[in-house]
Amino acid sequence: MTLRVIPGGRGEAAPPGLLVVGAAEVVTVGGGLRAGADQNEVARLSAADAGGPDAASAPVVAAWEGRIIAVGPRSDLEKVLESEGYSLGRFARLDARGGTVTPGLVDPHTHLLFAGSREDELELRQRGAGYMEILAAGGGILSTVAATRAASAEALHAHGRRWLDEMLGHGTTTIEAKSGYGLDLATELRLLAVAHELGKAGPIEIVPTFLGAHAVPPEYRSRPDGAEAYVRSIIDEQLPGVAAQGRARFCDVFCEEGAFTSDQSRRILLAASGFGLLSRLHADELVPSGGAELAAEIGALSADHLAAPSEAGITALAEAAAEGRAVVATLLPATTWFLMKNHHAPARRFIERGIPVAIGTDFNPGTSPTASMPLAMTIACLSLGLTPDEALVAATINAAYAIGLGDEIGSLEGGKAADFVIWNVPTSRQIPYWPAADLVRTVVKRGRVVLDRG
Ligand code: NIG
Ligand code: FE
Repeated sequence: MTLRVIPGGRGEAAPPGLLVVGAAEVVTVGGGLRAGADQNEVARLSAADAGGPDAASAPVVAAWEGRIIAVGPRSDLEKVLESEGYSLGRFARLDARGGTVTPGLVDPHTHLLFAGSREDELELRQRGAGYMEILAAGGGILSTVAATRAASAEALHAHGRRWLDEMLGHGTTTIEAKSGYGLDLATELRLLAVAHELGKAGPIEIVPTFLGAHAVPPEYRSRPDGAEAYVRSIIDEQLPGVAAQGRARFCDVFCEEGAFTSDQSRRILLAASGFGLLSRLHADELVPSGGAELAAEIGALSADHLAAPSEAGITALAEAAAEGRAVVATLLPATTWFLMKNHHAPARRFIERGIPVAIGTDFNPGTSPTASMPLAMTIACLSLGLTPDEALVAATINAAYAIGLGDEIGSLEGGKAADFVIWNVPTSRQIPYWPAADLVRTVVKRGRVVLDRG
């Protein structure tokens, strides 16, 4: 391996660096967005190959001022650091004690902020009710909208804090968080403001997304032209307000039969892009609805769910990837599992056709009340047929690209943020293998230890 160290380390004021030693395995997931066969290429440095975690050539990770400066065999790395002018005495040592180091997990699709819960729908579904049927009857998303409109910013903040802690405990260091349970300007802005504040407070970084087009709200439902009128209010009223607030980075829409048509979705996303918001979509979650086609057409960064894409939609995504304007297929396997579906996103076909695949939790009170990326990885392996290595790529580098941060996070490479997890297992292939276990020992965000279970 050639060892390249990012230069620096001379300034007196600089805080100490960080050297992670004693790992059985360091998985860098370096090398950019992964598609096709490369999706299974995690770049694994194993201490076993070097003679054990304490051997001179065992892999270590070096960080300085919150950034990765190098990953490589310990003795070489120490030499190169010194020759580059870094003083080894200014590196704190973190002993991974035979564990595995991976990039911090990136959750590219969450509905972090809401009020209330919907455990009653689990039983309705057990008795045969469909997801859209519950929504059409005024439940589902709409019951969460009622609770969320009534919730104060403080209550939403406390709820967000609780579930962010849960995410951190499962190895997540960055998330995307959608609004979408307000469906009126004031509540949507409250959700986006709270998401921004929580992200600023850290340690988990948050990319806020505006999802005004999550459902047609009750006050529009009784009108004959309700859906159209609501779409107009999103474009004429909500989007300008959201843009003026300046917190959202993305605009999302629920493009699905029974929610918003692909034509309505297109109008909303194009208007949003006029305000500088990047596009992502809930696409073809339940039935083929033109979502994948639209994502490819407008150059969305990510098309999410895709449990029921059409053949034309898959082809459109494959063509976009082949032409170098890839839309990341962000798959949400915990959702199909929790909705008790026996039909899942065709992940293997996406991979075969060169479409990059990410996974997320879809954390929300209706279809996926889990904040655990490792659980999503397990289900991705069992239900979507991803290999454990593909699942790790999907939960790190590809997820980072899905939220526009592929150059900044998602892999352990020189220059990137020092976001990583030390896991209590000797290989990352065991992360999806022990479902519902607490495998995270230590989480480092931007070079700082933010969780340490000792
Ligand atoms: O991604 N399908 C739309 N949105 C969410 C569910 C939201 C809810 O049911 O509250 C999803 O599955
Ligand atoms: Fe969702």
